[in-house]
Amino acid sequence: MKEIKSVGVVGAGQMGAGIAQVIATAGYKTVLYDTNPQALEKGHTGIDARLAKAVEKGTIDASQRAATMGRLSKGSSLKDFATCDLVIEAVIEQFEAKAALFQEIDKVLAPSALLVSNTSSISITRLAAVTSRPQHVMGVHFMNPVPVMKLVELIKGLQTGEDTYQMVQAFCASIQKTTVLAIDAPGFVVNRILCPMLNEAIFLVQEGVKPEDIDTAMKLGTNQPMGPLTLADFVGLDTLLYILQVLHRELGEDKYRPCPLLIKYVEAGWYGKKSGRGFYSY
Ligand code: CAA
Repeated sequence: MKEIKSVGVVGAGQMGAGIAQVIATAGYKTVLYDTNPQALEKGHTGIDARLAKAVEKGTIDASQRAATMGRLSKGSSLKDFATCDLVIEAVIEQFEAKAALFQEIDKVLAPSALLVSNTSSISITRLAAVTSRPQHVMGVHFMNPVPVMKLVELIKGLQTGEDTYQMVQAFCASIQKTTVLAIDAPGFVVNRILCPMLNEAIFLVQEGVKPEDIDTAMKLGTNQPMGPLTLADFVGLDTLLYILQVLHRELGEDKYRPCPLLIKYVEAGWYGKKSGRGFYSY
């Protein structure tokens, strides 16, 4: 089995930057790239700021921060992934965007390199099929916030090789994540269960229950760290709507129908925490 030494992350948003941070912290040479230079800068600066906070708290020392930032570089094009053994894609949740990127990256990488997606809902089998290396493609779904959440869902496409799975599983263990093996069906495990619950909370808001009361009920009644409407705002209401639409369309069951109030919020541009307004104001 080939050893993973150098990792590329494409997409420097909340998820991509979190993933790059965790990987560089674990000791890997990491290249972070985004087609949008401002997003790349923001992602890179955010990692440094979070490490600085960790130094202040005493979780790491200044030399560990410097070493982590030293292992992390900003790519100037996809060509900078040429020497990577593994590339993790964390861009917008749209099949066409991911497929186009997969085809570009596929051309740059060595034949033995692995190409994985952080998708939360798109078919891995379908993504693998657009590349010349389907046996080296799989799903690696991190949870938000990546530096805090222990779980990674692993998803094998129909074409994924057993050696690819073993290498990715060992890699995830080396970055201190616990993996579960999900099936290549929309929502995998976490979103299949979580998104209908968040949607149901939004139906209750639509029917007149206050968001604060729903969140208090679920926090104190079921020991969730944050209530479902706070979590929906945190995940992003546009992302939640997109995942529910995929679940509804591809699993064909009315139980996944997005709540009309969620659709209205997204139409209004109320995406949750990232836009300053969702079920709460930020
Ligand atoms: N990035 C990095 N670190 C963060 C962070 C972020 N965005 N937010 C919080 N943290 C860290 C803090 O720095 C703090 O670290 P230390 O313990 O080292 O000090 C720790 O997390 C706890 O933070 P706080 O004390 O500020 O706040 P908290 O105790 O309320 O924890 C939380 C915040 C970890 C987000 C917690 O509320 C929680 O676990 N919420 C649920 C998160 C969840 O369910 N995530 C999954 C979403 S679904 C998903 O991701 C799948 C998908 O495809 C949509």
